[in-house]
Amino acid sequence: MGFPITRMRRLRKSPVLRDALSEVAVSLNDLIYPMFAIEGKNIRNPVLSMPGVYQYSPDILLTELENVVKKGIKSIILFGIPEAKDAVGSSAYAEDGIIQQTIFKIKKAFPEILLITDVCLCEYTDHGHCGLIKDNKIVNDTTLELLAKTALTHAQAGADIVAPSDMMDGRVAAIRKGLDGAGYEDTLIMAYSVKYASAFYGPFRDAAGSTPQFGDRGTYQMDPRSSVKQAIQEAALDIEEGADIVIVKPAFAYMDIIKTISDTFNCPVASYNVSGEYAMVKAAAEKGWIDEKKVVLESMTGLKRSGSNLIITYHALDIAAWLQEV
Ligand code: PBG
Repeated sequence: MGFPITRMRRLRKSPVLRDALSEVAVSLNDLIYPMFAIEGKNIRNPVLSMPGVYQYSPDILLTELENVVKKGIKSIILFGIPEAKDAVGSSAYAEDGIIQQTIFKIKKAFPEILLITDVCLCEYTDHGHCGLIKDNKIVNDTTLELLAKTALTHAQAGADIVAPSDMMDGRVAAIRKGLDGAGYEDTLIMAYSVKYASAFYGPFRDAAGSTPQFGDRGTYQMDPRSSVKQAIQEAALDIEEGADIVIVKPAFAYMDIIKTISDTFNCPVASYNVSGEYAMVKAAAEKGWIDEKKVVLESMTGLKRSGSNLIITYHALDIAAWLQEV
């Protein structure tokens, strides 16, 4: 039946009706806030391409966390920025490394926070790649051992969830085996399963100092032009290897992938609203070209509708404040 019997606008007649018919809602429970821990004391370095994002030394990070928790954020993902880098990323798996120390301090001060840690080598290697290098190639199998070692040190320091972002084949299995072998069978793995080689990571590499010194990440991260089937296969393999939660990253250029992964698998899906996506919104808002609050909330609603159970976003603190306004 069509017009004039059917009038879709009747459904939108009043705010109460629109509220009653709203189906998609972003909740504070869904949000994961990324934070960067840098070695040192009393440091609060602004990341220029990401207004509102800072590199914090552990002492300041702990103070800032009070504010994060007060705003109602219950979950963070932590990245470490070490003082020294080398070819094998040894500070990634040092027991007293920057991230391990910070994890320990956070868990002591905020035991209830859900603490997720990024497991990768690129912030810790002098060449900036996510794996070991041999003959100018990023090698897979020997990297796995180091990733498993890294994840285990995070779990030992108190991480609730480890999140491998390296895109090496077989890393979820290697990490699961390493954790289980040491009695950490309750530590979750949130795998960056569907991670594209994306230009949207640009500002993050400023924040984490992890720009590859040669080449790019094209041999391990996924090609943006690759098939949806490849995305499904990546997620399937990680789930089979023991991933508890899968991440799709970036978010907005890949909402079809979020939807497909969410429809295909039973495990929870997290989408990563990455640094470049954040930077674009911030820049346009600073110029007064968009209404930041409305744009961000509308975008998050889109991510929820596409099937994201969780959203990793640098906007989390702002969203928390906005959600409490209404
Ligand atoms: C580390 C890692 C990256 C991001 C998360 N973990 C960078 C990369 O792969 O180059 C990107 C996050 C963002 O852009 O916000 N491998």
